[in-house]
Amino acid sequence: MSEKMWAGRSEGKTDAVADDFNSSLHFDRRMYRQDIRGSMAHAAMLGRQGIISDKDAARIVDGLAGILEDLDRGTLDFSAGGEDIHMFVETELTKRIGDVGKRLHTARSRNDQVALDLRMWLRDACVEIGRQLLALEEVLARRAEETKDVILPGYTHLQRAQPVVFGHHLMAYAMMFSRDTERLRDGVRRMNQSPLGCCALAGTTYPTDREMTASALGFDGVCRNSMDGVSDRDFCVEILAALSLIMTHLSRFSEELILWSSWEFRFVEIDEAYTTGSSIMPQKKNSDMAELVRGKTGRVYGDLMGTLTMLKGLPLAYNKDMQEDKEAVFDGVETVQNCLRVFIPMLATLRVRREQMLQAAQKGFINATDLADYLVGKGLPFRSAYKITGQLVSRCEKENKVLEDLPLAVYQEYSALFEEDLYGAIDLKACVDRRTSRGGTCIASVEEQIQWLREWIVREKETLY
Ligand code: ARG
Repeated sequence: MSEKMWAGRSEGKTDAVADDFNSSLHFDRRMYRQDIRGSMAHAAMLGRQGIISDKDAARIVDGLAGILEDLDRGTLDFSAGGEDIHMFVETELTKRIGDVGKRLHTARSRNDQVALDLRMWLRDACVEIGRQLLALEEVLARRAEETKDVILPGYTHLQRAQPVVFGHHLMAYAMMFSRDTERLRDGVRRMNQSPLGCCALAGTTYPTDREMTASALGFDGVCRNSMDGVSDRDFCVEILAALSLIMTHLSRFSEELILWSSWEFRFVEIDEAYTTGSSIMPQKKNSDMAELVRGKTGRVYGDLMGTLTMLKGLPLAYNKDMQEDKEAVFDGVETVQNCLRVFIPMLATLRVRREQMLQAAQKGFINATDLADYLVGKGLPFRSAYKITGQLVSRCEKENKVLEDLPLAVYQEYSALFEEDLYGAIDLKACVDRRTSRGGTCIASVEEQIQWLREWIVREKETLY
């Protein structure tokens, strides 16, 4: 049993097991930089407002700077323990500068302090993830450019549907990740209000200047209601939701990479730096990294769901339940960062097997829609054209042929409108080239998308938070 900093009303002696249970230092130590920066701004404000003397404020700021330096350098560690990072820093400060250190916590509470630290930590983390997403987008732009003429089957219901180019397929993911980037930024914008100075829940009797600390710490403004400021964790939920969607996209992409690198598809080959062998089957090359990304998606959803559930029954304002927010947030952030760290180079080095893709596109009647469109071009209503094409497909299936193999005479048994030019119309490249509608799969459209993405990347880089 140890004496607590909050000893006073009680003797502050709690059970050792309860202490362990209560302590968050082993995970909230991640926020030591944010905690110290926040305290420095707070002390400077207390000095400026005459709440403590300028001299005391300066000594506190100095002492905090020393702690920050020592923690950064590793000459101070967390082995002294403590209930949480806030208590740890304050105890260390008082150890270093004596009773002056005890003035730091004037006009503040751990409730506004922890809300502040977490917002600052998450803000930095989102910038980091934003950078990673831009790096991913750059790889996607490059790979899409390289593969804008590589034809493969596009699927619906996992059945070959219509031909597309691989660059178009990749750009679909680029669009998802661009929305993800914007979603994170939007979350950061809403979260960027300072809770510091909300104190325990009701504000304070001291003449504080919340705007001063808010702007010193890079916030756009202050939380307008002190009770909301200390009990709001919407920002955790919003960012975890954005992270969950990033994982959804990475997971769908991973699933495709796994399918495509199977013997059944053989559309791509994942570089061996990102595959593993089997301990008993010598022929295997497993796509472990992609599978792990897909698997870890569940963790991040769990972080989101856990946080929502933790919040739903809490009366205002702060409750200790909220200490659970941090592990979820840290885990969500770290999981996404780790996944991107391996996914980006895996995509950058992916080998695309054009021949295999083209071969797969040549089977499976993916030009059937184009054959129907051909008849429509000759004046037939689409529904009638659809029916005739269906009959032709069925005939091919019976004879184990593809549409390109049937002689003109056979076509003409089904419709007198068929002429020699039908073969040009169902050529796969022509099928792709003719999909010129905005956002379609023709090369010009893919180029337009890549162009847009490149400009978007430049704009995003300039404004990265
Ligand atoms: N470690 C706590 C948390 O993460 C800090 C706030 C504690 N506040 C309190 N009144 N016990 O939520």
